[in-house]
Amino acid sequence: MCFLLRTSAEEGDESLAVDPARVARYGPRNTTSVGTAAGAYYTMLGNTALTDRDDRAARELRRPFLPFTTHDGEVNIADRVTRYNRDYLGRVVRYFASQGIRQVLDIGCGLPAYGNVHEIVGEALSEGERAAVVYVDYERIVVDRWRDHLEGHNRHPGLDVAVVHADMRQPDSVLTDPVTTRLLDFSQPVLLLMISLLQYIHPEDGCYELVEQYTAPLAPGSVFALSHGTGDNLPDDMRAPFYELKLAYEEYIAENFTLRVEPQVRRFFGTWPLVPPGLVRLQDWRPGEPGYVPDTRDPARHIMYGGAAVKPEPGPNARS
Ligand SMILES: C[S@@+](CC[C@H](N)C(=O)[O-])C[C@H]1O[C@@H](n2cnc3c(N)ncnc32)[C@H](O)[C@@H]1O
Repeated sequence: MCFLLRTSAEEGDESLAVDPARVARYGPRNTTSVGTAAGAYYTMLGNTALTDRDDRAARELRRPFLPFTTHDGEVNIADRVTRYNRDYLGRVVRYFASQGIRQVLDIGCGLPAYGNVHEIVGEALSEGERAAVVYVDYERIVVDRWRDHLEGHNRHPGLDVAVVHADMRQPDSVLTDPVTTRLLDFSQPVLLLMISLLQYIHPEDGCYELVEQYTAPLAPGSVFALSHGTGDNLPDDMRAPFYELKLAYEEYIAENFTLRVEPQVRRFFGTWPLVPPGLVRLQDWRPGEPGYVPDTRDPARHIMYGGAAVKPEPGPNARS
């Protein structure tokens, strides 16, 4: 596993590299020795931890950050940014569903929680309409939980939903999985989601080329949306806590963790034009509240970028 905390435009600061023996092998997996990113995230959204390991991981991810006071009372930055991310996911899906997107490929979907993608898509459907959502994650517990969840909950009759157990770093295993090919029609627009996923993909895994393998087969009008952790503009007093966060990842979660600066995050979109407001802090992406004013004193607002771009018709500016 390798953790990189960068504020320059270049990736690969080996001074923060962690024990390479912890590099996760490729392929779907069933992590039982430490917590999972999925489980810690789920816990930090306010749910009861599924395992003691996830509970421990969530506590250790919070530990470096002092609580701060908001109108909601005392909150921890790590919990706060987790909620910002989940709320951003909801706004992205709601917006593009309102624009007519009816197919979603959600990679690194995490555990079922509040504001699930298929529920939001289902709310946008009229009678007789059809839509499909394919969830993908490489943790066994996520896939098992999704299967139970989908069996146990009613949904819009026109909505097909399924989950694929696969590693994002093996695009063929996602794109040619029988579930994916049965549910998604790649000749029609698809909303491709990589929300809080790409910071777990190491530069040495060819992160940009990997993303291109997903965007290339998509039809014009498709959308690629991401959120991504960053060290950009971190206040000085946040540097030491971020180093401690790296140690917590090393010890308690079986994941790579790479923060990227704005140009590096932007590069994932290739030549696709970004939908307004562009690549911005999560809370500033179509906040939906009339009169919204960003709270620039909120320390949690610095930590993640969000943005979405639409695949253009083939032409001189099209990437693929
Ligand atoms: C922080 S959670 C985000 C969950 C959800 N996307 C959201 O934003 O609410 C990241 C998820 O990505 C998954 N993940 C990390 N690396 C992955 C990979 N290489 N392939 C598939 N899933 C991966 C983790 O298992 C975890 O469920």
